[in-house]
Amino acid sequence: MKLILLLTLILSTHVYAESHEGKKHGGGGHHGGMHNGGHHGGMHGEGHKLDAATLKLYFEPLPASIIDEKKNETLIKLGRLLYMDPRLSVNDKIACNSCHLLNQFGVDNEPTSPGHEGKRGGRNAPTTLNAALHIAQFWDGRAKDVEEQALGPILNPIEMGMPSESAVISKLKKIKEYQELFPQAFKDDKDPFQYKNVGKAIGAFERTLLTPSRFDDYLKGDENALKEDEKRGLKKFVHMGCATCHNGVAIGGNSFKKLGLVKPYETNDMGRYEVTGIESDRKVFKVPGLRNITKTGPYFHDGSVKTLDEAIREMAEHQLGRQVGDGFVRDVKAFLGSLTAKDQE
Ligand code: HEC
Ligand code: HEC
Repeated sequence: MKLILLLTLILSTHVYAESHEGKKHGGGGHHGGMHNGGHHGGMHGEGHKLDAATLKLYFEPLPASIIDEKKNETLIKLGRLLYMDPRLSVNDKIACNSCHLLNQFGVDNEPTSPGHEGKRGGRNAPTTLNAALHIAQFWDGRAKDVEEQALGPILNPIEMGMPSESAVISKLKKIKEYQELFPQAFKDDKDPFQYKNVGKAIGAFERTLLTPSRFDDYLKGDENALKEDEKRGLKKFVHMGCATCHNGVAIGGNSFKKLGLVKPYETNDMGRYEVTGIESDRKVFKVPGLRNITKTGPYFHDGSVKTLDEAIREMAEHQLGRQVGDGFVRDVKAFLGSLTAKDQE
């Protein structure tokens, strides 16, 4: 009974989408994609059709800035220096930039990352680019923002391996650049050399790591910013239901969802359950943002998915219960390519 109702709904919205669109864009040519309106069953009139209103419903262009870069100039400068500095690690070998390379779209392109002794953790290093926009940090969201997050890896025994907060501070105090920059960046603090200020500075720097793309131009109304296959892919991405999770300003990063929502996914990583202890949080992860995604493989929380093609197929299958063809993968991949930093395409 329920199934029939659902089918009727899908069919009727399908027909509605087709005829309605035909009228409005008569002969427009570029709207020849698929119309699987089922995910948006007649919610809001035009909501199932990919026009400017639908786009607005799902996506938001990157803001020009999320931190006052002028006012925080010294803080950001200090943060950048710390981000690049291997002296933040116990053997002066590993910087944030060793695993989140700024000239490699904020990742190391490894499934998992070697730390100061060459040992690897169980998770893939996500990109630091645009990460400050996310609701929380890490795959399981255990840090609330980039300022808090930055304090973790420095003391993490397999990442940067510093023995304690005070060991970090006494090391930094001996370095000339920091002797100058900490007091300048934290003028109002009686003691500028506090561990939490290391996180504040690195976080401020990370807030500048936004990467505007052609998709942002498109969202702002430049129809020509996307190529035909990218537009087709965008439409498929929304109509298939990918955008029910990957949406907003980071095309993800704003919610936690179960990996294997429709079809169970094999993994020993319990994700958010390890943070909350809530039964329904098993295998729940932060939905990754998809900006620069064509550049940040391998994919998934454990880096086990080598190619973007495979990631798209796995997502369709496990999150939406759908088998998708080569055309879908090709077009959606083309769309995802339009999310790459404009100045690095
Ligand atoms: C040895 C490699 C390594 C080093 C060094 C490292 N990270 Fe990471 N980073 C990771 C891994 C792996 C994760 C994911 C861990 C998890 O989710 O449990 C991560 C997660 C993050 C995230 C979360 C991004 C998101 O989308 O949730 C940010 C931000 C980040 N790191 C910034 C930093 C900063 C800043 C430093 C330096 C203080 C640093 N990292 C040092 C490997 C590293
Ligand atoms: C129900 C929510 C949901 C839906 C629907 C969904 N995803 Fe995801 N997506 C996720 C989650 C959660 C992850 C993280 C997976 C992990 O932890 O390994 C993810 C990961 C990804 C990744 C890998 C990101 C990375 O940095 O490793 C890609 C690419 C992706 N999704 C694309 C898609 C596409 C394309 C679709 C539609 C076919 C889709 N997703 C549908 C929730 C969803």
